[in-house]
Amino acid sequence: MKYLRTVSLIVAVSYVGIVSAAATDGATLAQRGNGHGAAPCMACHAPNGGGMAAAGFPRLAGLPDAYLRKQLEDFANGSRANATMQPVAQSLSDDERDAVADYYSKLPVPAQVPAPPLKNDVAQSGQMLATRGRWSENLPACEQCHGPGGIGVGDHFPPLVGQSATYIANELHAWQGGSRHNDPLQLMQHVAANLSDADITAISTWYAAQPMAPKEQQP
Ligand code: HEC
Ligand code: HEC
Repeated sequence: MKYLRTVSLIVAVSYVGIVSAAATDGATLAQRGNGHGAAPCMACHAPNGGGMAAAGFPRLAGLPDAYLRKQLEDFANGSRANATMQPVAQSLSDDERDAVADYYSKLPVPAQVPAPPLKNDVAQSGQMLATRGRWSENLPACEQCHGPGGIGVGDHFPPLVGQSATYIANELHAWQGGSRHNDPLQLMQHVAANLSDADITAISTWYAAQPMAPKEQQP
């Protein structure tokens, strides 16, 4: 009897050990969540991390590690207010945020879902904003910070290509309305304040229709 009790104690202790080791594993968090507030990420961000375009769930696969990590903190502290992501982010420990950010940053960028063709005038004004900006209103071109073709630059300027029009438009509206105010030096708040609704439609559909650069498609 004593032996049996010792064995079951060892089994119980090692089971706890396995669970807590698993909880800081990024792949497990993505597939199963953490069991206390974080639903499986893949339920919304898709098993390949590509997101769900129509629902406005962003792609996470291949985004910079430090950027993903920062967003989880910003959702948790409310500087990026979002009713869906706040409870998820708040339930993740520091280690879990590290693990899941690392996991998604290393996933290969999934193949793009082809976007519908753009009308000429929309394509023109989207391209104009992306590559030239509007200097009469102190609006720099998006690509000055987000890189040529919107492929992203370094750790702090995320890619725009490979995100859906719905998601890009949602974020620009969030900056305009102040629910997202997590950007360093208010760079995006300044940009968004200078965009009309027609600009937002043009720029978000334009980026969603851009092909991902070959470099971006490599793991
Ligand atoms: C119920 C759906 C849902 C689940 C589950 C979910 N997310 Fe999200 N996630 C969203 C939505 C919606 C957004 C966009 C929020 C916004 O518009 O600001 C988002 C945005 C994000 C972003 C910001 C991406 C960017 O480009 O700025 C990160 C990072 C993120 N989620 C990570 C996670 C992680 C990690 C998990 C699992 C632990 C997770 N999400 C689970 C719905 C979900
Ligand atoms: C002066 C630099 C700068 C310019 C110009 C700029 N951005 Fe940004 N943008 C940023 C930074 C920095 C972030 C990341 C903010 C953060 O940390 O959450 C960002 C983030 C974004 C995001 C959120 C991406 C995501 O994954 O959540 C969108 C969408 C976006 N920018 C769209 C645009 C568009 C469209 C333009 C042009 C009209 C533009 N940006 C011009 C600096 C800039």
